[in-house]
Amino acid sequence: MPAKKTTKKARTADIKDLVIRVCVGTGGLAAGSQEVIDEFDRQLKSHGITAEIVKKCVNKTGCRGFCAKDVLADVILNGKSETYQLITPEMVGRIVDEHILNNEPVKEWLVGPEYHAFHDRQTKILLKHCGHIDPEDIDAYINIGGYEGARKIFSLEPSEVIEEVRASGLRGRGGAGFLTGLKWDLCSKAEGTPKYIICNADEGDPGAFMDRSVIEGNPHAVIEGMIIGGYAIGSNYGYVYIRAEYPLAIHRLKIAIADARKHRLLGKNILKSGFDFDIRIKEGAGAFICGEETALIASIEGKRGMPRSKPPFPANKGLWGKPTIINNVETLANLPAIITSGAKWFSSIGTEKSKGTKVFALTGRIKNTGLIEVPMGISLKEIIYDIGGGCEKNRKLKAVQTGGPSGGCIPASHIDMPVDYESLTAIGSMMGSGGMVVMDETTCMVDMSKFFLSFTGNESCGKCTPCRIGTKRMLEVLNRITEGKGKEGDIELLTELGNDIKQSSLCGLGMSAPNPVLSTINFFRDEYEAHIKDGVCPAGVCKALRRYTVNADICRMCGKCYSACPSGAIAWEKKQKAVIDKSKCIKCGACYEACPFNSIF
Ligand SMILES: Cc1cc2nc3c(=O)[nH]c(=O)nc-3n(C[C@H](O)[C@H](O)[C@H](O)COP(=O)(O)O)c2cc1C
Ligand code: SF4
Ligand code: SF4
Repeated sequence: MPAKKTTKKARTADIKDLVIRVCVGTGGLAAGSQEVIDEFDRQLKSHGITAEIVKKCVNKTGCRGFCAKDVLADVILNGKSETYQLITPEMVGRIVDEHILNNEPVKEWLVGPEYHAFHDRQTKILLKHCGHIDPEDIDAYINIGGYEGARKIFSLEPSEVIEEVRASGLRGRGGAGFLTGLKWDLCSKAEGTPKYIICNADEGDPGAFMDRSVIEGNPHAVIEGMIIGGYAIGSNYGYVYIRAEYPLAIHRLKIAIADARKHRLLGKNILKSGFDFDIRIKEGAGAFICGEETALIASIEGKRGMPRSKPPFPANKGLWGKPTIINNVETLANLPAIITSGAKWFSSIGTEKSKGTKVFALTGRIKNTGLIEVPMGISLKEIIYDIGGGCEKNRKLKAVQTGGPSGGCIPASHIDMPVDYESLTAIGSMMGSGGMVVMDETTCMVDMSKFFLSFTGNESCGKCTPCRIGTKRMLEVLNRITEGKGKEGDIELLTELGNDIKQSSLCGLGMSAPNPVLSTINFFRDEYEAHIKDGVCPAGVCKALRRYTVNADICRMCGKCYSACPSGAIAWEKKQKAVIDKSKCIKCGACYEACPFNSIF
């Protein structure tokens, strides 16, 4: 025993350079990362290990994207980095004993090839530092070149900054893809003072968490982007409009703003430039419509968040009637890199008309769910197979929905298409803010479009009739189709209603709400027809249309369905094929899920 003690002491003394990085984004925290951090702290303390070179041994970081494998932790020992996946507090003791004290990483817990494939195919600008630096430490940001862009702009005229952004080709990442430099130019020339710059962090799309992750992982990049934008358009006041349901992002933003003020990066005469700029946070109540720019402005002004008709555009008449720029989180977070590395560098990434990278929230029936950043123009195939690892359980890809609740569905036959603004619009979808939902053969396209339309219908502010009533009528038709009560002419009715709503609604919500329905009718009309004419849901999703039967040719008599059935509808005995009694079946699908041989249909 004494010999072991001496060895351990000697080894502990050897550990001079140790960094442990644990993701504490919202996803990481939900998977238990704080408990993992606490356990690392406790274990290191009990072994008397304190970092002698680095500021802190155990670092918390933002999300690094591969949420499917949370909790992820890097152990960087004397310059050599290893990454662990699916870590729980119970696993920490062994990592400390074997890896940190004995320099032998616990191989079976290290990330596998899919982790590297997931990251290696990406091009990271915005997410480069998320997952690496502590978002609550301004020095960590400054040490990687943070605020260099803000320093640089003060040696330029505001018009030169606008020109650089225009030359970069950056387009707004909030959905519409308007050229940022052009919008800034219009606002800088608009009459009226003061001017405002607003960061739109409302992010209401179901399945989207790009903006939240950027703020949680690297809030200073957004603040720096706002300083650059404020200086360029001549605004001294910035607002971040962020939904109250993002408490961690708000917490980190508050710390970042306070630290930036202490470092004279916000406030009066920032960086002794003679330019005053400060930022306030406005918490939104979490209404999707408040992401629309004119509704957002009304909300900050203390009014009900409802859009108004445009023109005048906010660049001319925005907050309190003054010229205002509203930019998405991602748009703003791109700016520090554009200013420091130059427009030429940025515009070399992407396609002719869609420059730079785009962050997508990759969700749905895909193996590697998470957050990815890819160059514009990458193919859907590369995203889904090379980065995403393909569909769950190796099922067949059916479609990809892009653009959030108002986007459209792209069928698997178009898998080679490039992902950029023009190509997505041409196929009846859109870039939107970056939600990407993968669907396999077990997805019913009618049910899926019903889901998105229910969302937009519920979120309609009700100001204009086509959107308020039209979405309800479309939903009624979709409901009856999925309930097996569809009628001849329903598809035509949906198409007519959808096109009318698109044309006559006041704002982007109504103008795009019918997109999921229209695009699925366009590409998956046969599924609508199967529901209406044959009373069948080909994917077996719509409960009213399900008919579970056992295919006796495939049944291997294992009895798993019998055990899973909650209603006693399955007759089975050892060495006998299962049979389903339709009168007792409640169509729950438990037998379908339980059968290991896919013999239930
Ligand atoms: C219903 C609706 C919701 C929207 N939600 C958001 C949002 O959450 N975040 C966002 O940046 N833009 C959202 N937009 C787009 C904004 O109105 C606006 O175009 C965008 O913030 C401009 O920033 P950008 O030029 O950087 O893209 C939404 C638009 C509509 C119609
Ligand atoms: S289109 Fe819909 S959300 Fe937009 S103003 Fe009209 S009712 Fe409101
Ligand atoms: S669908 Fe549900 S109730 Fe019907 S047979 Fe299968 S497990 Fe039983």
